[in-house]
Amino acid sequence: KTKITKICCIGAGYVGGPTMAVIAKKCPHIQVTVVDLNTERIAAWNDKDVANIPIYEPGLSAIVEEARGRNLFFSTDVEKAIEEAQIIFISVNTPTKTYGKGKGKAADLKYIELCARQIAKISKDDKIVVEKSTLPVRTAEAIKSILDNTGNGVQFQILSNPEFLAEGTAVTDLLHPDRILIGGETTPEGQEAIQALVDVYSNWVPEEKILTTNVWSSELSKLTANAFLAQRISSINALSELCEKTGADVNEVAKAIGMDSRIGPKFLKASVGFGGSCFQKDILNLVYIAKSYGLDEVADYWEQVIIMNDYQKKRFSTKITQTLYNTVADKKITFFGWAFKKDTNDTRESAAIYVADDLIAEQAKIAVYDPKVSREKILADLDYLKTRSQEENTASLVSYENPYEACQESHAIAVLTEWDEFTTYDWQKIFDSMLKPAFVFDGRNILNKTDLESIGFIYQAIGS
Ligand code: NAD
Ligand code: UDX
Repeated sequence: KTKITKICCIGAGYVGGPTMAVIAKKCPHIQVTVVDLNTERIAAWNDKDVANIPIYEPGLSAIVEEARGRNLFFSTDVEKAIEEAQIIFISVNTPTKTYGKGKGKAADLKYIELCARQIAKISKDDKIVVEKSTLPVRTAEAIKSILDNTGNGVQFQILSNPEFLAEGTAVTDLLHPDRILIGGETTPEGQEAIQALVDVYSNWVPEEKILTTNVWSSELSKLTANAFLAQRISSINALSELCEKTGADVNEVAKAIGMDSRIGPKFLKASVGFGGSCFQKDILNLVYIAKSYGLDEVADYWEQVIIMNDYQKKRFSTKITQTLYNTVADKKITFFGWAFKKDTNDTRESAAIYVADDLIAEQAKIAVYDPKVSREKILADLDYLKTRSQEENTASLVSYENPYEACQESHAIAVLTEWDEFTTYDWQKIFDSMLKPAFVFDGRNILNKTDLESIGFIYQAIGS
């Protein structure tokens, strides 16, 4: 049985970075090297000032500070790290395909395949290769085929070990996971590989929380978990509109149903729509897989979660325009928040991008304040949609470092992210600096309606 002393992780992103930092913290006897092709990103992970690491997550910089240089390393030397490690995690991005067959739905596996080919080429001794990225069910088969057909005759074991952390709470989720899922082959060699990875996690995760399955169950469980979580949000968001029509309050409805222990209280917060790099991508992938097996009803069922979410984002921007007397042309509208959720600087698939795009199409002037997202990132997100030229986007959107300045002479404020600080602002001061009537569209239901109305705001929430 090989003793694990060196781990390598390919991909220093939102998953690879925090996950490996926590493994390094909890396993001081294991050398953990995180590699990436992106030299800028690696340089940021190595920045002397830990405040400059590329990913903002509460608690992360302290862990990096503790472990970096001791047994946690960030490097662009992919080959060396692969060669030395006994376990190689693949944690690269698996975005939705933007070309060819399955465009707009299937997962793009080109980065995964590159990793597999590189591992095969470099490995001179037996390796355990761990799928940490979220992958379509049966991807391990393809990885195995590439490794076995292009390798140097060494043995590879492929494990599926999906990551369930949520951004904004990554460190807590990694330190105290609900479960660790490890899928592997049922052969003795497969079981031995599973045990090697179990031994890594059991340095801090109780054994009863480490679940082992076959590879396909593990791969499919990740897509399933994300589909179920997103489905709850689309379900409550679907009802939020019915609440608005009937006088019911979606927060009260969510509380009432969430107290049923069979339903549970989490993931029932109505919103402007879910964002993030995972939910949409993974459901589209699930839909694509179901379709590829001819399961049209199954595919349509899950696709509805996405359709509902797109509708919820659209509904929010339409409501803003309609409420502002059917025109937002040349009106300043302030966005509080651009990140897809609080406590992260990640903006991938954030609802804010789509709402801004709709309002700019109506010729609104958008002013953004987000405590963690830079102006360059905001404009890049908008440009990425390719709705209009870069010049037009730059002329239509300004970002501010100060929330109060962002609100001056504004017609309306739209809350797009649930950052805690928004609830503690001097809302009277904000009101005084705005044009009247002053509107607040709370896409996250975090502000106090009674307080805002007593100041003089016209306040609209989601689902009440
Ligand atoms: P990311 O884009 O932040 O990071 C991926 C990194 O991989 C990038 O820095 C990229 O440069 C690097 N990379 C790509 N190909 C490479 C190669 N051949 N060699 C070296 N480096 C390479 O992505 P992420 O958010 O960390 O997600 C990674 C995977 O984890 C995805 O499959 C995603 O679905 C899954 N996942 C993400 C989350 C999340 O919250 N973000 C949660 C669970 C699972
Ligand atoms: C998700 C999964 O939760 C995580 O397990 C998986 O590993 C990666 O994908 P993440 O996307 O980081 O994590 O954040 P999550 O907390 O799930 O939020 C996703 C989106 O849903 C955010 O835009 C959030 O604001 C929104 N949301 C969440 C709601 O609108 N209502 C809710 O009740 C919960």
